[in-house]
Amino acid sequence: HTPKITVIGSINMDLMTVAENMPEQGETISGESFKTLPGGKGANQAVAAARLGAEVHMIGKVGDDPFGAALIDNFESQGIRIEAVETEPGVSSGLANIIVSDQDNRIIIIAGANGEMHPGYIDKFKERIEASDYILIQFEIPKRTVEHILDLCETLDVPVIINPAPAMQLDDAYWGKATYITPNDNEAKKLFAYDTDDLPKFLDKLVITNGAKGASFFRGDRMITVPSEKVEVTDTTGAGDTFNGALAVALAEGKALEEAVGFANKAASLSVQKLGAQSGMPKRSEME
Ligand code: RIB
Ligand code: NA
Repeated sequence: HTPKITVIGSINMDLMTVAENMPEQGETISGESFKTLPGGKGANQAVAAARLGAEVHMIGKVGDDPFGAALIDNFESQGIRIEAVETEPGVSSGLANIIVSDQDNRIIIIAGANGEMHPGYIDKFKERIEASDYILIQFEIPKRTVEHILDLCETLDVPVIINPAPAMQLDDAYWGKATYITPNDNEAKKLFAYDTDDLPKFLDKLVITNGAKGASFFRGDRMITVPSEKVEVTDTTGAGDTFNGALAVALAEGKALEEAVGFANKAASLSVQKLGAQSGMPKRSEME
């Protein structure tokens, strides 16, 4: 059957400035280009899953500004269900100021309407959550809402992937409610002390992404790394989101973890070849 994925999370407009180098402190430099592109970790994961053939429902909020309307149009053009995307009056849409340079990217986000995702809002969509094969969440919405979603997924017995980005610590009781937790290498070090001699907590739930090196998980206390294919990198913004959306699809299709991680790696490496978080995300047909 077609996997049903519900993404609960952020929706941003990405203001992307491309420059050869990052400006130094106090320095002004000339850049190469500027683009306004749909983003936000939640929205990006939804688009990734939809491109790969899943039935995707988004639970989120946009502001009552022109960006909000454009972000809703974008979901519609991707075939994503938006019954649970509401426009919050008097608030701006989520924004991300992104500088992409040859070396890396740097992002400042403004929560806007994403900050208005309160626990009561999630409760309106309990039936949608319960009817899903997998729930995907990230950390660009309020912490108490994240905790509420995890409680709800446990009560409704629906598998949930936590992508802990940007890094935010949760009580162990909440991490314990996740089916999988997908930090990148930095987040894994910060949140799960993963580079010490001790094995990290929640070993059986962790899937750690590490850019061009691939992604790792644990079988017993042995770490298994699934390498990525080598590609030309244009922009890594949204690569982690592509990984998460694809991982949810593969798991919902019943793939074993190792195969699912390979599938997600492949989708992520295809995505970095184009500028913008969502632009390079592959369709299912491009995965073969
Ligand atoms: O993960 C990439 C995303 O992070 C961008 O699209 C930006 O909106 C920020 O939320
Ligand atoms: Na990209």
